[in-house]
Amino acid sequence: MKYYLTTPIYYVNAAPHIGHAYTTFAADLIRRFKRMQGYTAVLTSGTDEHGQKVEKAARAQGKSPKEFTDLISAEFQRTWEKLGIMPDRFRRTTDPRHHRMVQELFRRCKANGYVYKGSYTGQYCTSCELYVTENEPGAPCPDCGRPTETVTEENYFFKLSEFQDRLLELYERNPDFIRPETRRNEVIAFVRQGLNDLSITRTSLKWGIPVPGEEKHVFYVWFDALMTYMSAVEGEKVDGEDLWPADLHLIGKEIVRFHAIYWPAFLMAADWPVPKQIFAHGWLLFQEDKMSKSKGNIVRATPIQEVTGVDALRYFLMREIVFGQDGNFSYEALVNRYNSDLANGLGNLASRTLSMIEQYRGGAVPDGRAEADARIAAQAGRTLEAYVTRFDRFEFSRGLELLWGLLGAVDKYLVEQAPWKLIKSGAPEDQRRLDGTLYTAAEVLRLAAALLAPVIPESAANIWNQLGMPEPLESVRFERLAWGQLEPGQKVHRGEPVFPRIKVDEATAKMRELEIQETARQNALLGKKPETEAAETISIDDFSKVELRVAEVVNAEPVKGADKLLKLTVDAGEGRPRTLVAGIAEAYKPEELIGKKVVIVANLQPRKLRGIVSEGMVVAATPEDGKPVLVSPMADVPVGTRLT
Ligand code: ME8
Ligand code: MG
Repeated sequence: MKYYLTTPIYYVNAAPHIGHAYTTFAADLIRRFKRMQGYTAVLTSGTDEHGQKVEKAARAQGKSPKEFTDLISAEFQRTWEKLGIMPDRFRRTTDPRHHRMVQELFRRCKANGYVYKGSYTGQYCTSCELYVTENEPGAPCPDCGRPTETVTEENYFFKLSEFQDRLLELYERNPDFIRPETRRNEVIAFVRQGLNDLSITRTSLKWGIPVPGEEKHVFYVWFDALMTYMSAVEGEKVDGEDLWPADLHLIGKEIVRFHAIYWPAFLMAADWPVPKQIFAHGWLLFQEDKMSKSKGNIVRATPIQEVTGVDALRYFLMREIVFGQDGNFSYEALVNRYNSDLANGLGNLASRTLSMIEQYRGGAVPDGRAEADARIAAQAGRTLEAYVTRFDRFEFSRGLELLWGLLGAVDKYLVEQAPWKLIKSGAPEDQRRLDGTLYTAAEVLRLAAALLAPVIPESAANIWNQLGMPEPLESVRFERLAWGQLEPGQKVHRGEPVFPRIKVDEATAKMRELEIQETARQNALLGKKPETEAAETISIDDFSKVELRVAEVVNAEPVKGADKLLKLTVDAGEGRPRTLVAGIAEAYKPEELIGKKVVIVANLQPRKLRGIVSEGMVVAATPEDGKPVLVSPMADVPVGTRLT
């Protein structure tokens, strides 16, 4: 049986980050899980290369769209390769095979009467590639908040308005079509309000798939991009079954509307089968904010992988964040989970169990089946079933929590049985108990390795091999997995610990450092100069001409008729007050500043501003599009102290 799943095809306006990796890790997990359930699972991912955003990004780098997209698409593929999550099909929207299919989609929609030509004027967000519903010129985009542009163009429209009933019926008949429930409810509410027709071609740009018979038109990126899911597996069958329709589209929650409304409508219009399910996960937040290329608060997966290994990152993302909800990423939380769950939990259980089998039983699994702990065996049986059920519903974090409950129970059981005491006893019943104890622990380890194979494939295989399992881990089938299958007599091969402990501070510092290097590498790849690179260097003598001094604000007041200015009186340790005029009124209230130590340029030529002579300048760091932030010494220093 086939199971066809997809990730979004990612925009190539910037290089991949951990948000893209999150979806792709989850997709890889599901692919492996389905395979272990006996499905022939096929995963498609790719890159979304057309549209205004990409055209703009390429131009900004002085490259042609093709040159630019070649570079970034390759970077995505390299990243998936490095992280061990290469999809089975990687499709670029610039692929001619894809172009043919998009044109075919259009022809079929048109032949069936769902396409007409019209003209459209509206507020368009070039960043989100969307017309917004607000009509006011320059209205902010509801999704990204950026100002929209007024655009009028002749284009083809898709009669989305005619699909309201058929879509509602689709959602009604297939309660699992959109998951999780919150997203399903949002979509249903949106569709119930009625749908507007959708413009599906553009005359305002060239970088797109040409519309057949219409030289000036290219397709709207979403009409183009969604089709990748189908074009990537065009005409392909596995096990005698067509791969299309997809069993699952895995996406982030911000693109639900495109997938759950537009996409099935396009397919129905073309008389093609619709996908079976769409699952929208939440956002990965960094420093409490959605990670995004435009905000620049980005973390990449590859530097993390170098420090903790890829499995630890996979485990962290799946365990820490409830799939479907938003969740925070932080280096500290990652390392803490690594140490508690993987090093102390799973890793420790593995090395303890294997080393006791080596020391006490010459490295062969003892026949302790009859003496195995009945309570642990029962819990293992329940966990096995519940884990698979949870994973079937994409509740990964809950499934892992259950499994760690079992590992914890075994830890406790080992302490109670105290095998290190039993070994010293000559009594035959103690020796039988020891066999039972070791068998119980090893059997739980075997089941855990099997269940964890989709989540932490490398480490699970490592544990599996250390246990001396004869068959490869990939050939395990979940439905045949049961307590008591571990063969007595089997030789274990204890190796290096699977998850050696790491230090939070050191690991975090290392990941941050590698992240900066990775950014530099990607910038170099794109020929992009960091914006902050100094234009030219100066000598130390040049620098020492600038007299920077610590000063205390003794008074601050607004400047009449100037909204942005404050008049500051400061003590710079000169035995006389100094007056400064600073453009900081939008960032600070006068009373907040009194008594604060700041840094001033003391030897700047005096300048008259609004009739006030400013004797120097106060130093501030002003982020792009942000308000000025005054600079202050990290510890108290006397006024007048020079900065050198
Ligand atoms: O939307 N947290 O591409 P895109 C979680 N080309 N997931 C994240 C994330 C974050 N902070 N950032 C990105 C597009 N993602 C279109 C898709 S499909 C036919 C076309 C993941 O490069 C998540 O899967 O903006 C999200 O939906 C996707 O990347 C958006 O990638
Ligand atoms: Mg996006």
